[in-house]
Amino acid sequence: MPLVFTRRHEFLKYIKEQKEKRNSIGFVPTMGALHAGHAQLIKQSKNENNCTVVSIFVNPKQFGPTEDFAKYPRTFQNDIDLIESIGAEAVFCPTVEEMYPNNFNTQVSVSGITEVLCGAYRPGHFNGVTTVVLLLMNLVQADRMYLGQKDFQQVQVVKKMVLDLVHTTNIIMVPTVREEDGLALSSRNRYLSPEARQIATAVPKSLAAAAKLFLQGETNVTKLLKASRQELNKFQLEPQYLEFRKISDLTIKFENTIQEETVLAIAQFIDSNDSKVRLIDNVILDNNSTNKQSLEDLISRAFR
Ligand code: PAJ
Repeated sequence: MPLVFTRRHEFLKYIKEQKEKRNSIGFVPTMGALHAGHAQLIKQSKNENNCTVVSIFVNPKQFGPTEDFAKYPRTFQNDIDLIESIGAEAVFCPTVEEMYPNNFNTQVSVSGITEVLCGAYRPGHFNGVTTVVLLLMNLVQADRMYLGQKDFQQVQVVKKMVLDLVHTTNIIMVPTVREEDGLALSSRNRYLSPEARQIATAVPKSLAAAAKLFLQGETNVTKLLKASRQELNKFQLEPQYLEFRKISDLTIKFENTIQEETVLAIAQFIDSNDSKVRLIDNVILDNNSTNKQSLEDLISRAFR
């Protein structure tokens, strides 16, 4: 069983002990409802550190007033079981009051790259993310923190915060874990009805279609977008955004030709029963061998 901490002071005592033992600490922040995507992050941390800490905290500050904070899935016992099966040493799962006492007055805000893609449609979301992530990072004092590529903009925003504020934790991005048909694993997939789940396959297909052309040498944005949109059109889907952006500066959008270090990012609402489920996904369009392999993997899953 991992050690489970709900109180900051007890958790800090544990971290102090790890530091005294000179154990390297790997940190995986999560909002729970864990799945194989989270598991991949925890496994990598376990491989690279003597002590792995997983946090479970559904952070109210990163949900908008009309978003799903109240109904965000909470599956605590399953989460602990999964963490135990991987062998992580500790879980930090504070209450909202423990994280944000009444007199909590600070907000961490990264400008620029938080204003595009998801940031353009979820005002305040990334301020909520950076505030909680910096607070958690200061508590855990990890050597390495593991974030998933699935939330690519989140990784870039956190990296920028770490760079600007000279935090010493190394940020490690872990590739997206996908279902057999290419759909990126997400805690929100459980909201998809069977019909909606079928329609959701258009999301990885749209990325795979562009990736396929890219691997054949295509760099024209209009042509790449056309291939991508064709997959969405098959289900009459209109993305919230579908954009080619520069990885090292997400404020730069490629309109004509994609350059080196491009990410293709999508946000797509899928109607499911009486609600809409918002899915995000992305691919890095880079020809280096590891990335090429993950593009080929996505293509073979999406068009199997
Ligand atoms: P959550 O959505 O629970 O995700 C926790 C971590 O798991 C994130 O780094 C996310 O990118 C990663 N992850 C989710 N699905 C994945 C997949 N299919 N493959 C690989 N990694 C995946 O992201 C958050 O929580 C929060 O914003 C948080 C960082 C915890 C701050 O509250």
